[in-house]
Amino acid sequence: MNSPISFLAIILVLHIVSSVSVSASYAYDPQKIDPFLKSPKMTQDILSMVDDLSFPYYDESCPGVEGIISRKVKEWVQKDSTIAPSLIRLHFHDCAIRGCDGSILLDYDGSERKANASKTLRGFEVIDDIKAEIEKKCPKTVSCADILTSAAREATVEVGGPFWMVPYGRKDGRVSHAAEAEMVPMGHEKVTDLIEFFQSKGLNVLDLVVLSGMHTIGRSTCSALQYRLYNFQGTGQPDPSINPQYLNFLRRKCRWASEYVDLDATTPKTFDIDYYKNLENNMGLLSTDQILYSDSRTFPLVTAMATQPPVFYSQMAVSMAKLGNIQDYSSEDGGEIRANCNYVNPFY
Ligand code: HEM
Repeated sequence: MNSPISFLAIILVLHIVSSVSVSASYAYDPQKIDPFLKSPKMTQDILSMVDDLSFPYYDESCPGVEGIISRKVKEWVQKDSTIAPSLIRLHFHDCAIRGCDGSILLDYDGSERKANASKTLRGFEVIDDIKAEIEKKCPKTVSCADILTSAAREATVEVGGPFWMVPYGRKDGRVSHAAEAEMVPMGHEKVTDLIEFFQSKGLNVLDLVVLSGMHTIGRSTCSALQYRLYNFQGTGQPDPSINPQYLNFLRRKCRWASEYVDLDATTPKTFDIDYYKNLENNMGLLSTDQILYSDSRTFPLVTAMATQPPVFYSQMAVSMAKLGNIQDYSSEDGGEIRANCNYVNPFY
């Protein structure tokens, strides 16, 4: 833990702790917009990352669009609370490949949605439902990428997470390849792979540790972790880093690959720092969760999050905003506004 990188990480954490402490007293009221996040400086920081996006983007062309998205997400979550984490994950998988361009929503043979890594994604029907409602009011105006980004924010608030302001103006991509989607981390990678993947998207180690903390809610299919329970790295033995009692629990719970198990073993329905505390007790569900606690580059940040709930809460908003602002039209024609989120617009 004495490497210069660890030292820098600790300094960074201390810096964050001191800079957000002003807002700490507001951090747990999701009804309130954290003044830290609404401050002109924060707005400027977020906007400086994305010249093409703006907060009032739909003010004239589709006023009230956020209200529609918010209402629809609430309706869906009321019917099925498991849909909220699924929407957040869907958003991550969208932004992780070719930026937040709705490419994960495209539905045809060979598209990202058809990749192995996308098999357990859910929430597509929610986006279709929201899109249909918005099309009635403002046809061909609001991108599917913007809808998914905003829906993920609403879902985060619904599960008790922080609010952040979403700038709009993303375009829908016209390209989607299953092979690219297989590059999204699935739980068996090494920390270096995770750091490099996040860095390639403009996200840093702090973003990696904080966004992994989204696993404070939601669940995983047992298929994603069975190798940890019986044959870790071809040893014929379970992953030695799993807490023995937790291992017993998981083996009983995961008799079938299609079963579900909570990502946060102790408080799966609460948006809190217990995800990080679980790592300290060797109770991370995915190997990629647990190794954040044993690598010197991420360990200090895990410890900081485990002991500083307001930092986790505020930084989650910042990192989610960064995730939602990833754009990559380099190989594109600039994108479009899809009429149907499942298909690119036909050429006329
Ligand atoms: C650091 C790399 C990451 C890895 C390796 C990873 C891996 C996984 C895996 C394997 C699952 C379970 C999939 C299944 O059902 O089989 C999952 C679920 C989930 N992930 Fe991640 N994830 C990562 C980052 C993220 C990020 C950045 C977010 C959000 C910002 C996120 C949010 C979620 C949520 C909310 C769920 C639960 C989904 C549900 O309940 O339907 N993950 N993740």
